[in-house]
Amino acid sequence: MNPKNNDILKTYVITTENAIDAVFSSDIAPETSVSEAMRYSLEAGGKRIRPSLVMEFCRVVSGDYKKSTDAAVAIEMIHTFSLIHDDLPCMDNDDFRRGKPSCHKQFSESTALLAGDALENLAFKVILASGYDDGIKSRLLSELSDATARMIDGQVKDLSFLERESVSERELLEMYSLKTCALIECSTVMGCICGGADETKIASAREYAHNLGLAFQIRDDILDIIGDEKELGKPIGSDADNQKITIASVMGIEKASELAEKYSNDALDKLESFENNDFLKDLTKSLLERYK
Ligand code: IPE
Ligand code: IPE
Ligand code: MG
Ligand code: MG
Ligand code: MG
Repeated sequence: MNPKNNDILKTYVITTENAIDAVFSSDIAPETSVSEAMRYSLEAGGKRIRPSLVMEFCRVVSGDYKKSTDAAVAIEMIHTFSLIHDDLPCMDNDDFRRGKPSCHKQFSESTALLAGDALENLAFKVILASGYDDGIKSRLLSELSDATARMIDGQVKDLSFLERESVSERELLEMYSLKTCALIECSTVMGCICGGADETKIASAREYAHNLGLAFQIRDDILDIIGDEKELGKPIGSDADNQKITIASVMGIEKASELAEKYSNDALDKLESFENNDFLKDLTKSLLERYK
């Protein structure tokens, strides 16, 4: 990304991380030993793409990204919950995440399970405790719960495909639409809601995020083959070890890269509905070429 956009991204990351800290010093965070595991996974880092999308969509529709901070924190909590559970031995069985031992390796399987549960719950409490007016609150809660349900549905499908001899490209993309696009769509839509956008803008944001999410997951599958473990902060070859069928394994790296580029370009087209889309264009392009 160019230096100006990189600085904007840094601002979103810092704002998110400060707001996460503030949640844990407030009375809505659980005061049990599971808090340590929740904070461990949340604070391990990560690209913070989803909260950044919340804030940037709020900014492009209204000018003030700070209005969306609580929604940004909530989606990062749901995402982190999904990663903690995704790494468990009963799922992808990965010992490394965000450059550190996975939650269940650092603590225990039961603690990781409960930390994920508690993060999901806390995300909803963050919205409930926010200063949004009731109309906005109920829309955010509805978007967040629908997206969480769709993400879980996608994870169910992902695991069910392990029992299959073959899975079609169409089925894989449908599964990606759930497991990955759902939270990315929700991020852009929540940003729009916090910024008071109209339904047309919300629909455009959703379409943008759908295409971005597909490109993002295809790139993730490719990085599982060609990535560098240190840079990525999670294991390489996990999909192959689990005999997982992915777009990259079905189509090969080259064709999968072309497909990711197609979805990324479709995402860029959808951004034409938004003024001041320079940051989003830059972010979209950088995510297609990412190595982490
Ligand atoms: C990982 O998401 C899970 C996928 C949907 C591919 P990210 O690549 O955004 O993970 P973090 O948040 O940067 O760790
Ligand atoms: C993750 O897909 C989607 C989630 C909902 C967590 P992956 O299983 O490919 O994500 P990574 O590669 O472990 O981050
Ligand atoms: Mg998985
Ligand atoms: Mg995984
Ligand atoms: Mg992966």
